[in-house]
Amino acid sequence: MKISHDNPNAQAGAMDQYYKFQSKIYDMTRWTFLFGRDEIIKAIPLERNAKIKILEIGCGTGYNTKLLAQTFPNAEIRAYEVSDDMVKLSRKKLSQYGSRVEVVHQPYGTTPDLHLDSYDAILFSYSLTMINPQWEDLIRQAQKDLKVGGYIAVADFHDSKHKWFKKHMGNNHVRMDSHLVPLLKELFSPVVDKVHSAYMGTWEYMMFVGKKM
Ligand SMILES: C[S@@+](CC[C@H](N)C(=O)[O-])C[C@H]1O[C@@H](n2cnc3c(N)ncnc32)[C@H](O)[C@@H]1O
Repeated sequence: MKISHDNPNAQAGAMDQYYKFQSKIYDMTRWTFLFGRDEIIKAIPLERNAKIKILEIGCGTGYNTKLLAQTFPNAEIRAYEVSDDMVKLSRKKLSQYGSRVEVVHQPYGTTPDLHLDSYDAILFSYSLTMINPQWEDLIRQAQKDLKVGGYIAVADFHDSKHKWFKKHMGNNHVRMDSHLVPLLKELFSPVVDKVHSAYMGTWEYMMFVGKKM
């Protein structure tokens, strides 16, 4: 498995520090600006009652993980998360699902290849723009970990025409350079490929669902 050219532990450490406080206000505040999270899950074109395997990268408080568990009641779900505080919150939120939903306290893509061709869907919700500079390695890893015919689903920030806003987001570990979509389109066949405007054009967010061919 890759992620060798940069230290994934440094990125994970930065996240752990950042979310020590942010985890406490996360669910109260994020609904006001993390748009597209519910929609991206509804857009995954898999049979709702199927016995499938789903991976989520950067599950945070478990907001999407819970929605995945409700939307796909027979799915086995594994979520990766690096922040100690987020892991605690998500495990608490997801305990009702027992062993069907597991939160792994580890950066995705840093352990030996265990998952090749094994997942029906992999979700990245507002995590890739914070995984710098390893975001490209993680998308490529997801491509390997998906079964042929499986789906990657991504909702995230896309870009902003305002330099001040990009700088503000950069200070919060978020890179907004329209950088995710080209690689996603190169590696997957698009099923959903949309860019939406938020707060009268202050920024754009993207939603992408792509099939592994
Ligand atoms: C903006 S939050 C998004 C959380 C959740 N997916 C949502 O949509 O609300 C980004 C999350 O990704 C996690 N994260 C960042 N880098 C990661 C990595 N390399 N592996 C796993 N999780 C990571 C962060 O700790 C944080 O909880």
